Amino acid sequence: MSSYAQPIYQGPGGNPFMPYLATTIEIVPETPNIKSFRLVINDPEARANFHFEPGQVAQISLFGIGEATFVINSSPYENDYLQFSIMKAGEVTSELHELSLRSQVGVRGPLGNWFPYDKMEGKHLVFIGGGLGLAPLRPLISYVLANRDRYGDLTVIYGARTPNDLCYKDDLAVWKRQGGIRVVLAIDQPAPGWEYKVGFVPAVVTEVAPAPENAVAITCGPPIMIKFVLQALEKLGFAPEQIYTTLERRMKCGLGLCGRCNIGPRYVCVDGPVFSLAQLKALPNEL
Ligand SMILES: Cc1cc2nc3c(=O)[nH]c(=O)nc-3n(C[C@H](O)[C@H](O)[C@H](O)COP(=O)(O)OP(=O)(O)OC[C@H]3O[C@@H](n4cnc5c(N)ncnc54)[C@H](O)[C@@H]3O)c2cc1C
Ligand code: FES
Repeated sequence: MSSYAQPIYQGPGGNPFMPYLATTIEIVPETPNIKSFRLVINDPEARANFHFEPGQVAQISLFGIGEATFVINSSPYENDYLQFSIMKAGEVTSELHELSLRSQVGVRGPLGNWFPYDKMEGKHLVFIGGGLGLAPLRPLISYVLANRDRYGDLTVIYGARTPNDLCYKDDLAVWKRQGGIRVVLAIDQPAPGWEYKVGFVPAVVTEVAPAPENAVAITCGPPIMIKFVLQALEKLGFAPEQIYTTLERRMKCGLGLCGRCNIGPRYVCVDGPVFSLAQLKALPNEL
């Protein structure tokens, strides 16, 4: 955990296009189409020097297949490995889902900015996630829980399509059990045995109605969910400066060089992926 100076990824031999080799040490099925991969960077020095902040991403590569961007979602306090949760979507992610233990992958990172958790100190925090959108929030929630006295009330509103589509079920159970954080779970349609809320995440946000006074809301999920969550938060009285989200823009270099990920003058790979709603409102409407 450190200041907000933009870290510059230096790959092996100072080449930022070169990944470090890493080994899969554990693969955890989260949902029918999402698996969490725990990786250890092979080189002991690179491993010791790998410091990331909640919200940062890395490029994971499979040799001969390609490279794709994923949030580093291990807790900043889980030092034994880096965790990435990967949804099967296309070429790279489908091949990643076929990996077994002790497979070799490439890791370029950490890349990008992170949630300004120091500016959030003393505030009530509302985390709002949908599906795999809990991934970027997970390291931030871990950090906040480990520094509980620096923050006000904590609320997690998390929804998925069905109970099977909820990620990080162990974390959710621990957070619900340990207290100090309110966890509101929702699924889209009623399901047998489901005893929590039913409805889309934006509607649940409106129902829970977190108070905007001295609060910050952080939301991640599918773009359509984010769009309506942002509207719901603004209706509740949250100002754009009180709302943070992450953007998913297809990346290539991850270094601000190729121009693949820009929105107007901003590059998601170096200026993001974390943005306040105030920052987003100043950008061209290309989202
Ligand atoms: C900042 C950031 C953070 C991210 N974090 C995560 C994360 O933590 N976990 C995660 O799972 N994902 C994350 N993503 C998304 C992830 O990077 C993409 O899902 C991944 O790049 C897909 O790669 P792929 O090669 O498997 O898919 P691709 O083969 O590139 O395909 C992706 C999608 O496009 C469709 N598609 C492919 N080719 C075509 C075509 N020719 N025409 C039309 N549609 C096509 C596919 O059907 C698929 O739905 C993140 C992205 C960003 C930018
Ligand atoms: S991915 Fe190349 S500039 Fe952002």
